[in-house]
Amino acid sequence: MADYLSYMDQLNEAERIRAPDTPESLIGRLAALPAAWDMLDDYGLDVYSKQIVGRVATTAEVRDRRGRPMVTGVNFGSQDYLSLASHPAVMKAATDAIERYGVHVGGSAALMGNCAPSWLLEKQLCDWLQLSDCSLFPTGWGAGYGAIRALVRPRDHIVIDRLSHASLHEGARAATRHVHVFNHLSLESLERQLKLVRERSANVGILVVTESLFSMDSDVPDLRAHQELARRYGATLMVDMAHDLGSMGANGLGALEQQDMLGKVDVVMGSFSKTFTSNGGFVACNSPGLKLAIRFGCGPHTFSNAMSPAQASVVLKNLEIVRSSEGAHRRALLQRNSVALRKVVADAGTPAMGIPSAVVPVPMGSTGRCRMVSRFISEGGAVCNAVEYPAVPREGARLRLQVMADHALEDIELFRGIYTRALAQADAALAAFGCSEALGEDAGEPYDSALAPLSTIDPVLQAEI
Ligand SMILES: Cc1ncc(COP(=O)(O)O)c(C=O)c1O
Repeated sequence: MADYLSYMDQLNEAERIRAPDTPESLIGRLAALPAAWDMLDDYGLDVYSKQIVGRVATTAEVRDRRGRPMVTGVNFGSQDYLSLASHPAVMKAATDAIERYGVHVGGSAALMGNCAPSWLLEKQLCDWLQLSDCSLFPTGWGAGYGAIRALVRPRDHIVIDRLSHASLHEGARAATRHVHVFNHLSLESLERQLKLVRERSANVGILVVTESLFSMDSDVPDLRAHQELARRYGATLMVDMAHDLGSMGANGLGALEQQDMLGKVDVVMGSFSKTFTSNGGFVACNSPGLKLAIRFGCGPHTFSNAMSPAQASVVLKNLEIVRSSEGAHRRALLQRNSVALRKVVADAGTPAMGIPSAVVPVPMGSTGRCRMVSRFISEGGAVCNAVEYPAVPREGARLRLQVMADHALEDIELFRGIYTRALAQADAALAAFGCSEALGEDAGEPYDSALAPLSTIDPVLQAEI
């Protein structure tokens, strides 16, 4: 789709050259998009508009962009890592909070939007993370973007891991034009960039940005070495803990805990949208100054409505569970499931990337193959997500399977058959289109290789609209 958008831009550019005196219509130039998108829909190749019907759970009912039934099946596409989204105690915390506080705080944190549960949540996060100050944000996206904007001035420099989340890259580009990208996880590349900046200027501020578990690759940086390098070059380190906080580590504190770096990283941030089953995010550090700078000069905190009391109460309850023996048990189940799912995809000849975590990324090569496999997984009765350029490199498209603590091993075994069939069906369909991406000699043999619109495969889909 990124390529299609840039193709449309090229057409528009050609039109601008052809008719230099005609003003370009910002809305008009998007007119071709719906027809192309509808076609993707019809062939089951729109992987970015799925909607879930009912609760997030290990099975899900999913509809497409136009509300047509797509699949009801085993769900490897949700970020409810410890299966807490429908936990009775968590749901009760939400309803109790609504009963007590209503549904809305009616302001940003700077305008009375903090409430009793969010104040308590900030305190508890400080205690857990062993840091003195914490600020909440309405989204994790805003936390990453906002922390960078609050820390970095236009004269400062940012050195950022290539695969960092979009919120971090966008925050970096908005904060300064001095953004340097280092190769993913590479300490040599990080040091090279730091050295170059310092050689040019002894006194500029530098922010180093990375994540503690990268969700596109399921891999982890050496955080101690990152922090040491940052100190050596007079830089500040910021780590995004969105994916491992709560879901990994003996006490749920992720790679920071596993690397004995708790309370030792300059700035940490996270999102509640995975393990903590709520919208929201946080930034924590040992600096009351940063907390106040965020309060008054950070768009997504200062000028955006604060988390609601129910959201803060949900996160508080989740935090209690995450820190309890139940949390440890759920993390163990999650880890077991991740290992089992990784074995399933490896047995099918497509080993997952990285280490066992809630995210199981499976490389598919081209975007086309990835979407095709994803379509046949849906048809087979399972749900998962796909990621492609520009979120990952070209030819680096991958399925992003996400496991939950409540998946049974039977769910994962069920996926084995669905996945193996989907790979063969996708490669057969691609071969029928003359694409040379089919893997393995027998790919495509047992299946009808002509790709038909979904409506001709399953008329029930149409009937149910
Ligand atoms: C690494 C990382 N940081 C930040 C975010 C943004 O979090 P949220 O969904 O809470 O806005 C995400 C979520 O996709 C993420 O994966």
